Amino acid sequence: MQQKYFEKQADGRYRVKPVLRNMITFRQINLVENNWPIRNKFDAIFCRNVMIYFDRDTQYAVLKKFHPLLKQNGLLFVGHSENLYHATDLFKLRGKTVYELAAR
Ligand SMILES: C[S@@+](CC[C@H](N)C(=O)[O-])C[C@H]1O[C@@H](n2cnc3c(N)ncnc32)[C@H](O)[C@@H]1O
Repeated sequence: MQQKYFEKQADGRYRVKPVLRNMITFRQINLVENNWPIRNKFDAIFCRNVMIYFDRDTQYAVLKKFHPLLKQNGLLFVGHSENLYHATDLFKLRGKTVYELAAR
């Protein structure tokens, strides 16, 4: 996978090859704003060590916006120090730091 998708640079760091880079859409989103420019659903959302900056109400508001963006069997990954115990109506723990949609 490393050889297929990454190329080592002279400084020792790795760069994603165009074959993978061209499949990615980069957008900057302020999670506390309302109109996210996202239409498609995701297999996975990685939001690690970001919600730690938000109070509980703001975290819940963000999680409520993540919920419809995740496919039925999609997974939400958060940081090791984060938990979603205050949003069990939205997400249930699947494994360490990994959540799936709670039953609707
Ligand atoms: C501790 S870093 C974590 C970065 C990365 N996810 C990781 O785990 O290494 C926190 C990140 O949260 C982002 N962040 C903070 N408030 C944000 C907001 N309102 N919307 C989007 N990103 C935010 C910051 O820009 C920063 O990149």
